[in-house]
Amino acid sequence: MSELVQFTKVDGIAVVTINNPPVNALSSAVSAGIATAVAQIENDPSIKGVVFIGAGRTFVAGADIKEFGELTSGKIICRESLKPLLMRIEDLRVPVVMAIHGTAFGGGLELAMAGHYRIALRDAQVGQPEVKLGIIPGAAGTQRLPRLAGVAKAVEMCAEGAPVKAEDALKSGILDRLVEGDLLQAAIVFAKEVAARPAPKTRERNDKLGRPEQTSPILAAARETARKKQRGLLAPLAAIDAIEAATRLPFEEGCQKEEELFTKCLFSDQSKALIHAFFGEREVAKIPDIPKETPIVPVTSVGIVGAGTMGGGIAMVFANAGIPVLLKETDQAPIDRGLANIQKNYANSVKRGRFTQQFVDERLKFIRPTLDYGDFSGVDMVIEAVFESMALKKEVFRELDRVCKQGAILATNTSSLDIDEIASATSRPKSVIGTHFFSPANVMRLLEIVRGAATGKEAIATCMQLSKKIGKVGVLVGNCMGFVGNRMFGPYRREAQFLVEEGATIEAVDKALYEFGMAMGPLATGDLAGLDVGWRIRKELRHLEKPGVRQAFIEDRLCELGRFGQKTGAGWYKYDENRKPSPDPEVAALIRRWTSEAGIPQRQISAEEIVERCIYTLVNEGARLLEEGIALRAVDIDIIYLNGYGFPAHRGGAMWYADSVGLRKVYERICDFQRRLGSWWEPAPLLQRLAEEGKTFAEFSSRQSVAA
Ligand code: 3HC
Ligand code: NAI
Repeated sequence: MSELVQFTKVDGIAVVTINNPPVNALSSAVSAGIATAVAQIENDPSIKGVVFIGAGRTFVAGADIKEFGELTSGKIICRESLKPLLMRIEDLRVPVVMAIHGTAFGGGLELAMAGHYRIALRDAQVGQPEVKLGIIPGAAGTQRLPRLAGVAKAVEMCAEGAPVKAEDALKSGILDRLVEGDLLQAAIVFAKEVAARPAPKTRERNDKLGRPEQTSPILAAARETARKKQRGLLAPLAAIDAIEAATRLPFEEGCQKEEELFTKCLFSDQSKALIHAFFGEREVAKIPDIPKETPIVPVTSVGIVGAGTMGGGIAMVFANAGIPVLLKETDQAPIDRGLANIQKNYANSVKRGRFTQQFVDERLKFIRPTLDYGDFSGVDMVIEAVFESMALKKEVFRELDRVCKQGAILATNTSSLDIDEIASATSRPKSVIGTHFFSPANVMRLLEIVRGAATGKEAIATCMQLSKKIGKVGVLVGNCMGFVGNRMFGPYRREAQFLVEEGATIEAVDKALYEFGMAMGPLATGDLAGLDVGWRIRKELRHLEKPGVRQAFIEDRLCELGRFGQKTGAGWYKYDENRKPSPDPEVAALIRRWTSEAGIPQRQISAEEIVERCIYTLVNEGARLLEEGIALRAVDIDIIYLNGYGFPAHRGGAMWYADSVGLRKVYERICDFQRRLGSWWEPAPLLQRLAEEGKTFAEFSSRQSVAA
């Protein structure tokens, strides 16, 4: 018997234990092990029932996603389908009980549904998350799930991919019983209880499939939701098509339809990009020069300085994770304002059904206001989120150095200032680090963790680990102006302005990038974040601008007119009282006047050029960051762009997208832009090198860590 699948017999009940740590993924080897166990059961007339269970922390979390990558990249030429094996399990003459703890996801739930009964611990979850990988269930999940849970639930689960808690799964008919305590014992008892009964096969249960007149509106509504909420994605619609097949065709034919759709999705660029994003999110946690054994500071309490936009949001992040927060302000008025904002944000979450009132009441108890630094003497970590001023930040860090215990992590949420200079205000620069949250901090998943020259490994390891605990994706970056995300975003937004200066309309620029898949167009994003933020920085840094290099000017002019974006009701667009944008003819007229005064020739600009110029400029800057070592690997940049900047997940991130277009083509376009437009389009040396060598960004990863 394979080591991955163990077989034992307890009182005539066969127990099949899947043991493929960490998540019992159904690799080909695990499937082979299950097949051997099934053969043994088929040939042993003394067996009265069967239990399938997962060893370790979970049932089966799905098929082995790595094998999909190997298949689509041509490393392996075929992968045995799970379907026939699941049929054999369903056809066993004795009842099969699937005992679920942890997660039964994807192929794991498909395996469970091929059993005759499913029991689970109360904290277990089930789900068909394949859609998040750009695929659909491929082992009859789209055919068996609607038979157990009905079409509406199956469509929701397969098209959206969200996990379902055990309680809900019981109500939906996916599970038969919830149990407490020893799962294996409970499953054996259950198997004995049902041993004498005929085993119900899921594939023969047609009572929940409904008639076409009942299911058509459900499917139509699901398609509409998918088109709106999962813009541009193929897999959600394919999942709905496969479930429709379950309602219209016999099981076998439905399975064939599923297989067709599954294969189409699996070999799509979208699936490759989403699988890259899945592994990328785990990869960024691995930093060669910060090994797993690096000691960390256990963070059980946090101090936050500043209860403004970011400080308040960060306080919610920690409270949500159950970590007590001391929130410091200069005065009672700003602290009251900060707390009121936190309460308002929580109230909105309750209104939208994200949290219950009880959860919010509990969370609020984790946030304690203070006006006194002295209260920080016991905290394990402090995050500073005061105004973006070096003098002020240094003053705050001098105070922190005075009051905080040795070993406490001292973090700054600065978005642009030099971490080393901030650290120089303390006597312990190895404890100083950047934790760059994104706005709104309680929503955005990205956390850039900024390594200063003296930042210690302990501080880095602590922040990386903490990021997962607080529900963020932590990405380590080097210390430079704008770090990774904002340094790339600058040229991207500048290029969007240049396009407008050259004759593209504001709406055309935003529409082209929205249709490419960005969450928002670059100009609308400026209005949301506040045009004045960049304007103030540009004014301060004007002396650093290279003479003769083209600078964008429209945003500065809009700011001079008091048009700061949404907060002033007008920016690139005008906004009504509900912040709904509409094009502003006044701005269009002003832009034509300004560009004519500046002598910029006007022309028609295609959506293709808009997308290429904006996205390739991101890529070019990304290549520089990679070469400088500010970003460790291309995948780190991708994860930053997917989680902090609304880059479409199905395109895998800026660098993955460039790799998928082909670096030769990207490089040639950039050279063309340099000839036609100007020197700011000089290709990054790394891009040129990789293009000439026929390589990809993904292949470039020679570093141990980011440059400090
Ligand atoms: N295949 C291969 N590796 C997997 C995997 C899978 N299905 N699921 C997780 N892993 C790996 C991760 O890459 C990670 O590897 P690492 O330690 O080398 O970085 C390790 O297992 C642990 O994973 P996490 O760090 O994510 O552990 P968590 O405890 O935080 O989360 C989980 C566990 C909720 C199960 C999460 O890993 C998850 O959501 N996994 C993916 C589930 C999924 O998408 N299943 C469907 C697969 S496709 C399928 O089944 C097709 C079928 O229809 C034919
Ligand atoms: P904000 O202006 O909303 O809040 C700053 C708060 O700090 C104010 O409430 C102020 O009273 C308080 N403060 C000032 N001095 C203090 C002191 N000595 N002690 C305690 N509190 C003090 O600013 P915001 O937007 O929250 O920014 C904070 C930091 O986060 C800045 O460094 C900014 O660059 C950075 N950041 C901002 C983002 C944004 O979108 N707003 C995004 C990412 C980072």
